Amino acid sequence: IKVQDYRPQAFTDFSQPENVAAYQAALQKVRAELLGKHYPLVIDGERVDTAERLTSLNPCDTSEVVGTTARATVEDAQRALDGAWKAFESWKKWDMDARARILLKASAILKRRRLEACALMSIEVGKNYAEADVEVAEAIDFLEYYARSAMKYAGFGSAETTWYEGEENGLMFLPLGVGVSISPWNFPCAIFLGMLAAPIVAGNCVIAKPAEDSGLIAGFVVDVLLEAGLPAGVLQFLPGIGAEVGEFLTTHPKTRFITFTGSRAVGLHINEVAAKVQPGQKWIKKVVLELGGKDAMIVDETADLDVAVTAAVQGAFGFNGQKCSAMSRLIVVDEVYGAVVNAFVERAQALKMGTGEENANITGVVNEMSFKKISGYLELGPQEGKLLLGGQAPGECGGKKGYYIQPTIFGDVDQGARIAQEEIFGPVVAVFRARDWNHALEIANSTEYGLTGGVCSNRRERLEQARNEFEVGNLYFNRKITGAIVGVQPFGGYNMSGTDSKAGGPDYLANFMQLKTVTERW
Ligand code: NAD
Ligand code: ALA
Repeated sequence: IKVQDYRPQAFTDFSQPENVAAYQAALQKVRAELLGKHYPLVIDGERVDTAERLTSLNPCDTSEVVGTTARATVEDAQRALDGAWKAFESWKKWDMDARARILLKASAILKRRRLEACALMSIEVGKNYAEADVEVAEAIDFLEYYARSAMKYAGFGSAETTWYEGEENGLMFLPLGVGVSISPWNFPCAIFLGMLAAPIVAGNCVIAKPAEDSGLIAGFVVDVLLEAGLPAGVLQFLPGIGAEVGEFLTTHPKTRFITFTGSRAVGLHINEVAAKVQPGQKWIKKVVLELGGKDAMIVDETADLDVAVTAAVQGAFGFNGQKCSAMSRLIVVDEVYGAVVNAFVERAQALKMGTGEENANITGVVNEMSFKKISGYLELGPQEGKLLLGGQAPGECGGKKGYYIQPTIFGDVDQGARIAQEEIFGPVVAVFRARDWNHALEIANSTEYGLTGGVCSNRRERLEQARNEFEVGNLYFNRKITGAIVGVQPFGGYNMSGTDSKAGGPDYLANFMQLKTVTERW
């Protein structure tokens, strides 16, 4: 296969009026062509409808139905599994470069439809223009990066072994079989796509179960992959309820691997049920988990305060804090606490609330359950810290009923508090006053999570200490702690944040392959 070196997609500059106009035109096109659309299941290349449906609502205007998907039953899941194993028999024999070509073709289609995908997410999950643009760029990057990555696993002897006289020895990378990919709603294009494209290019067949709140963008992505030429049965699209079809598939003896991105609670549950061997099961299921975070950024007295405050606002409130990587804890050393916190509050106060389509900074959170969960933390917060900003969940904005929550900051929080330890997954930040640098690092490491972290400092020794001692999978210095780029910042967390499988990293595909050593005595 002939490809140029991998380069991440550039982001769109929305300070340019022509880019804003193009986005608005895409919103109109999506409203005219995709709104109200229904996506059936896809099993063995056929569209299959179900008696019951899942409805996707606009979180910024809950009176609006964005569209519907089928709602798979366990019988559908069983058929998907059987069909995928059948498809595996031929898919595993395809050349690696032929499989990679399908990803590259899908990338070309998605590049052409980039604005449509963005606009659909603005309506379905409330992403503003930049958040949606960065996400679709990431989705394209996953396709491009994994297509190239696949080449390094092709053929006998692709991994290094030591020469031994009189024999030929070598390693082969082989696909695992059929797996299930269960994804969240917060990166419903990029993560949904990345989590299925990687195992597929490695030669596996995948049953993809998207999150209940983002079935339309998932259906859109599946259309792109089918148009790119994925053979029937290689990708089975199975929107449904996690506790029903998700549970059925993760416990099933014929599931070979599970790749899951979502909450700690569901991830640990999957880990447990997948570990239990079922009658007729002949393998140990491979489980890849990418879970939540309670991510902290430290600001010390040597930091450039403007850099730090910009990083804090971006990291905390981008997509309403609904990112596993979001800065939900800000740790500031006492000497600069007042200056940093005042500037942080002032900058956060200026964020505008509205819809994704209006390109607001703060939009509705994804669904009623999230709205209620975050509202609960808004009530708890004043008992555990000083309310410095927000604290209200108005539930409407500009005359539209939606899941709107104010950006909220609690100051002087204790490291043992619930708002310091539990993932809130909304626009809520706990701020900590540290005595000094060492105390700040101790607070940063005081949760069970370990996904992203950051340090704003100009003291070289401290950055080097953090490089070794800050317990996170993705560490950033003097910038925001969100927005990892495929291939540039391989992404995955420590501790309760997951199995550190590093999506968008050089070894990610190996999660979905098994190695065989073959020796021939000459
Ligand atoms: P969630 O755990 O509620 O749901 C994730 C998926 O699991 C959904 O598709 C859901 O239907 C499915 N599911 C639910 N119960 C199931 C069960 N019993 N068996 C099988 N599947 C089941 O998470 P969410 O609300 O969609 O996403 C937000 C969470 O995802 C946050 O905790 C966030 O930090 C995390 N996340 C992590 C990363 C990462 O890379 N580490 C990235 C994005 C999101
Ligand atoms: N990969 C996403 C980020 O880095 C979650 O923000």
